[in-house]
Amino acid sequence: MKNNKTKRDIATTSIYGSSEEMRTAPKTEIPKYPTEPRIAYQLVKDEAMLDGNARLNMATFVTTWMDEYATKLMTETMDKNMVDKSEYPQTAEIERRCVNIMANLWNSPEKPNCTGASTIGSSEACMLGGLAALKRWKKARKAKGLPTDNPNFIISSAFQVVWEKFSHYWDVEMRTVPISAKKITMDADDVIKLCDENTILVVPILGVTLTGLNDDVKKINDKLDKLNKKTGWNIAIHVDAASGGFIHPFVNPDLIWDFRLKWVYSISTSGHKFGMVYPGIGWIVWKDKKYLPDDMVFQVNYLGSEVGTISINFSRPGNQVLAQYFQLIHLGFEGYKTIQTNILKVCKYLRDRLVKLNFSMFSKDLPNPLFIWTLKPDPKRNWTLYDLSDRMTMDGWQIPAYTLSKDLEDVIVMRIVVRQGTGIDYANLLIENLQRHIDILNKLEKSTESLLAIRRNEIIKPRIFHH
Ligand SMILES: Cc1ncc(COP(=O)(O)O)c(C=O)c1O
Repeated sequence: MKNNKTKRDIATTSIYGSSEEMRTAPKTEIPKYPTEPRIAYQLVKDEAMLDGNARLNMATFVTTWMDEYATKLMTETMDKNMVDKSEYPQTAEIERRCVNIMANLWNSPEKPNCTGASTIGSSEACMLGGLAALKRWKKARKAKGLPTDNPNFIISSAFQVVWEKFSHYWDVEMRTVPISAKKITMDADDVIKLCDENTILVVPILGVTLTGLNDDVKKINDKLDKLNKKTGWNIAIHVDAASGGFIHPFVNPDLIWDFRLKWVYSISTSGHKFGMVYPGIGWIVWKDKKYLPDDMVFQVNYLGSEVGTISINFSRPGNQVLAQYFQLIHLGFEGYKTIQTNILKVCKYLRDRLVKLNFSMFSKDLPNPLFIWTLKPDPKRNWTLYDLSDRMTMDGWQIPAYTLSKDLEDVIVMRIVVRQGTGIDYANLLIENLQRHIDILNKLEKSTESLLAIRRNEIIKPRIFHH
């Protein structure tokens, strides 16, 4: 009788009338007894409420909006495990179709079936591209009886952290070409100067994370071609097109950066950035099967049949691959082109408005829908971009302020990334908010935020960029 009463009480108790809501959520130990799903749901959901509003995050490259059909498809297929290609052969087939589509967008010469894979994001894809290069180099060196203990690769100092990880994880020296106020992207001559017989790869970036610019892949390719011819080396290129891979095929088809170039052997991108799929999905494609070492393809038979996988991760959701295929079908070439053109327009609009607010832009070019700016020197101003960034969070906006890479590390910049979901009206709201907070900061005698920045040891040194 007593038990029945307890059950009835639980069934009729409102969520916030429950005893669970009167306790703190478990932080270190698994709770001894179960919690009703509706109450557990509410507890977790309420905690997640403290996260920022993804749509107001101008910092991220990652997709924060998909339409209702994509959301429905992803929700309905989230139980699929991408690695289980024998249980989900159609998802595997769709992955293969996506690889072919990506490869063709990047002008792969391999027809009809191209070599590549989906990954959890660009990071895994970059690792695979780098690893393939390392293995190719080792094999070639071993065949000639040469040592293989000192490999290196070359990348701009504005690299994304994944390349530092690649360097540490696989013990490959990372040689960086410094970007500076004069050389704002990776200089091709500087690349060549760093190459030697132990160079496994050069990694230009299309959509440099810190600046939004593109390294000149063609120029690097051409100089590398001369060097390879002269020395007999075979230094290849992996293009880290985390952002640009889904931008330039649509809006900039004449930009030669992809498999049309002789030494570009592999390309990676993030499907969850400008591929417009929720995280996490990335893509890696090799120009030809021969550039993917055989021992990177693992045959797994215990899932039902003998299936090859190329991945560092094993189990991973398959619904992102289906969502990528959905976007490719739904938007088509023209759909992607229109959206990418629009976000570039919104980005330019925002940039022009910020120039009017007297900020100094890092570059005149806007190849990708993101840009960075800095403050012009003004002895009367007692606030920094960190202060502005802090104040914008009061209205929910996340606009990061950070210092640039080596040789520009004293420069504080702010960055805006424009993704699908940011229109002109939205851009106007952002500018109004920026203007309001700038006015407030200008009126403050000494802002608490500035003090905060000083406490964080940040250097307050505005700089104008000369073009
Ligand atoms: C140039 C570049 N490479 C790699 C990455 C890592 O991408 P992901 O987050 O998809 O792993 C990023 C992420 O911003 C990037 O900008």
